[in-house]
Amino acid sequence: CKVAPVKKTVVIGLAADSGCGKSTFMRRLTSIFGGAATPPRGGNPDSNTLISDTTTVICLDDYHSLDRYGRKEKAVTALDPRANNFDLMYEQVKALKEGKSVEKPIYNHVSGLLDPPETILPPKILVIEGLHPMYDERVRSLLDFSIYLDISDDVKFAWKIQRDMAERGHSLESIKASIRARKPDFDAYIDPQKQYADAVIQVLPTQLIPDDNEGKVLRVRMVMKEGVKYFEPVYLFDEGSTINWIPCGRKLTCSYPGIKFFYGPDTYYGNEVSVLEMDGQFDKLDELIYVESHLSNISTRFYGEITQQMLKHGDFPGSNNGTGLFQTIAGLKIRNVYERILADGPSVLNRAKI
Ligand code: ADP
Ligand code: G6P
Repeated sequence: CKVAPVKKTVVIGLAADSGCGKSTFMRRLTSIFGGAATPPRGGNPDSNTLISDTTTVICLDDYHSLDRYGRKEKAVTALDPRANNFDLMYEQVKALKEGKSVEKPIYNHVSGLLDPPETILPPKILVIEGLHPMYDERVRSLLDFSIYLDISDDVKFAWKIQRDMAERGHSLESIKASIRARKPDFDAYIDPQKQYADAVIQVLPTQLIPDDNEGKVLRVRMVMKEGVKYFEPVYLFDEGSTINWIPCGRKLTCSYPGIKFFYGPDTYYGNEVSVLEMDGQFDKLDELIYVESHLSNISTRFYGEITQQMLKHGDFPGSNNGTGLFQTIAGLKIRNVYERILADGPSVLNRAKI
């Protein structure tokens, strides 16, 4: 007899401040799921949604309850929970998870106004990305897997300068002022979400160059929670051990300041975690296979899949360092979580973590 496939929507949360690499991460993720995601065809050209065969990415800015003018009037920032409608966010993510379509609002980043809603059909994988995917307890309980991109102030500053000064013509002073103005709300409402994330990708200045302040060479750490259902942390050489590894030599070309890996156990907000760290950058991306072959639990489908993905998107920011590497690994882990949930019986809400 034939059994009808059970319809399931797996929900992934991706939290980060704006300008911290969420779109780049989403491009890596949707590529792993086999195809680029594009805005809905024939809809509002200012839609923030991205859709592919398997994945729909919703930007949580769409749940702003106050538009740009409302925020100005009430003197609240977009990071403030009072500018966001968590009741609607919860209702709609829950409905999508239950296989129902929703009429989702659109926050128009050009006009700063809320546009008429767009219809979102339940996808196989729903990614909710933005400032607050883990802020509201109810929304959080709907997430099957969650990631927080934690960009340190120094690096955020370097990236913002790159983008807003070089590409948008803003002055150094105005960039500094805008970062300063966001900081209190960022610290109060965005940053605390990292304690709930199953994986945190931390991006820090390098420790390989003394007093580096260029922000070009990065130390990137992937903090992976232990005991999360469907998710086994990646490890280097031997699970549970502590490893410092300099892979430079015959099989990996490194120029100054070299590359250093670290792997080991730690605690993070009271949780047991495994940490994988890479400081430095790759010279020749195809040699990444050497590093990949020493990593385990990477959830690849074939030998060399990480290297293949990294080479495929060599033009994306961060492809020569730990940001690209760990975003790619996180993408593979998400695919694995999705496949295991799918294989694991009927759809249930509030899938408990062990
Ligand atoms: P978001 O979607 O969070 O706003 P983006 O992915 O659009 O962020 O990235 C914003 C900018 O930050 C990019 O244009 C780039 O200048 C910089 N950036 C993002 N990720 C990286 C990275 N891994 N390495 C270097 N710069 C990056
Ligand atoms: C979105 C972004 C915020 C950003 C805001 C700009 O909501 O996610 O990070 O601060 O837009 O708001 P503004 O009040 O300048 O339109």
